[in-house]
Amino acid sequence: MRTVVMTGAAGGVARHLRPLFAGAFDRLILSDRRGPADLRADETFRAADLGDPDALHALLADVAGVIHLGGCAREDGWHAVRAANIDGLYNLYEAARRRGVERLVFTSSNHAVGFYPRDRRLDADVRPRPDSRYGVSKVFGEALGSLYARKYGVRSFNIRIGNVADRPADRRRMAIWLHPEDLAQLIRIGLDHPDVVDDVVYGISDNAGAWWENARAHALGYRPKHRAEDHAVDDVARAAEPAGDRIGDRFQGGPFCAREFAGGLADRD
Ligand SMILES: NC(=O)c1ccc[n+]([C@@H]2O[C@H](COP(=O)([O-])OP(=O)(O)OC[C@H]3O[C@@H](n4cnc5c(N)ncnc54)[C@H](O)[C@@H]3O)[C@@H](O)[C@H]2O)c1
Repeated sequence: MRTVVMTGAAGGVARHLRPLFAGAFDRLILSDRRGPADLRADETFRAADLGDPDALHALLADVAGVIHLGGCAREDGWHAVRAANIDGLYNLYEAARRRGVERLVFTSSNHAVGFYPRDRRLDADVRPRPDSRYGVSKVFGEALGSLYARKYGVRSFNIRIGNVADRPADRRRMAIWLHPEDLAQLIRIGLDHPDVVDDVVYGISDNAGAWWENARAHALGYRPKHRAEDHAVDDVARAAEPAGDRIGDRFQGGPFCAREFAGGLADRD
């Protein structure tokens, strides 16, 4: 692909992806509110706030694809979630539409479906059950992507990411872990595959204990190279989840479900 913009380039996921995408496109423009502290001399950075439509319009000139990592990446108050992930994402899609951007890869989240119990195996067509204001914003992002794809021709590829890390951290993340190289592979599918229109896939590696069925990703050629069980399974499996309790342990979203949970478990799953 020609010119690609990566938003959220100063964040944690971008730190994994930047070296993996070095030289992958004709041009890669990194963007965030402020540049990453470890910006290399061969990397290009342009500041843009998702709340600033003019800055986004300038950013997306002559851009073919966007890898959108920017915004609020955890639970927060409504104002913060809305500013970055609702209004900010709308601003970004509007800039993409006006600039004729071909594709936008959206980093959605498992928290869009976090209130499903762990014994339910989900496919990508399952009705959303967000576990947080953050999760609601990811459902919104997937819906906005569908609108912009079907109405305006900005193809969207929505990856419901589990947890990106070099290795799984605990029992819950054994199921939802995603190695950065596998995420990079999914992003390339989103940017390149001719059949992508407004797809939703799960961002997980080839984990034996996965809660999600990823048929669409596999049909598009996704072949994850990593598996949670290859990483010191005994140690990881024994580790307690940080906020593990009867609510968090019951649902896929874990501590996101437990936070602010009111009342009993009856009729909740
Ligand atoms: N880290 C994970 O395992 C994981 C899991 C599921 C989904 N995701 C999603 O992946 C994406 C990247 O996650 P991350 O862990 O790197 O998050 P992060 O918080 O480390 O990075 C997000 C970046 O967005 C930038 N940002 C925030 N508000 C902005 C605004 N108004 N304008 C411009 N930039 C703004 C921040 O400066 C930050 O650098 C997020 O969309 C997140 O929801 C991540």
